[in-house]
Amino acid sequence: MFFIRDGIQFPDVVHALKPNPKTNIQEYWRILDYMSHLPESLLTWCWMFDDVGIPQDYRHMEGFGVHTYTLIAKSGKVLFVKFHWKPTCGIKNLTDEEAKVVGGANHSHATKDLHDAIASGNYPEWKLFIQTMDPADEDKFDFDPLDVTKIWPEDILPLQPVGRLVLNRTIDNFFNETEQLAFNPGLVVPGIYYSDDKLLQCRIFAYGDTQRHRLGPNYLQLPVNAPKCAHHNNHHEGFMNFMHRDEEVRLSTPLELPLLVFLLGIKILIWFVLFTDQLLPLKV
Ligand code: HEM
Repeated sequence: MFFIRDGIQFPDVVHALKPNPKTNIQEYWRILDYMSHLPESLLTWCWMFDDVGIPQDYRHMEGFGVHTYTLIAKSGKVLFVKFHWKPTCGIKNLTDEEAKVVGGANHSHATKDLHDAIASGNYPEWKLFIQTMDPADEDKFDFDPLDVTKIWPEDILPLQPVGRLVLNRTIDNFFNETEQLAFNPGLVVPGIYYSDDKLLQCRIFAYGDTQRHRLGPNYLQLPVNAPKCAHHNNHHEGFMNFMHRDEEVRLSTPLELPLLVFLLGIKILIWFVLFTDQLLPLKV
């Protein structure tokens, strides 16, 4: 779950979390002052200050898709879905006192733990579970299933095992394979689609926007971000474009512009016929 349910609140969340603009010191009063105006953030706060608030390391941590996505079967059947990753070595957390010692001794302790585990052949594994819901049932619960400040109760919508993820090798170069990596909740594979979850709708465009700025317009062609299978898209040109194309057709044909102008003309005509009488008084 998350603090807010609408992406437009995100800039304010970030400003509340940032340090004091005068002293550059991060202060709890600013965070809590803002969050106190958002009662829907309470569930996330409860998790943060509960025993699960400080994970021991990455291997003992759960992962969540957070948002409601949809699964689309070949037959066309659609289901709402939530994704959950559960570590097979269990969930472990630190108390505030333990965190001071562990983090104080090595601020990269979680990265080191992950790296050392993989290097020694103790490969971390997560099981993938899904919760599904028929979209026809969206209004049948006492909470909004598309609201990210809520979780779907597992006794009503049980976790179903569907797969696993094993980290069995480390990267060769941090800059190439991590710094230039671009995760984006808007990039989905066939069979998975979005939902009307308002926060997801904002994230769908926010990440790509920032990644085009951070890495350049063709960042999806970088080896770490490109699909490994044969693929095609309708992106053209842009800086650092190294996708080989030998086709002679582009999407926007020379016919498109006149067609657009024609359709726009018809729209303006209809609008004029419908609304002239309302405009006339303005002329007086
Ligand atoms: C469920 C709520 C959210 C979660 C769990 C989340 C999580 C994350 C994470 C883990 C990253 C780091 C990604 C990376 O290192 O590549 C990130 C980056 C980012 N987030 Fe979010 N975020 C959430 C909500 C939002 C919202 C609402 C917005 C904007 C409306 C947003 C905009 C961004 C942007 C622009 C980046 C930088 C992406 C990049 O440069 O690659 N996030 N977020």
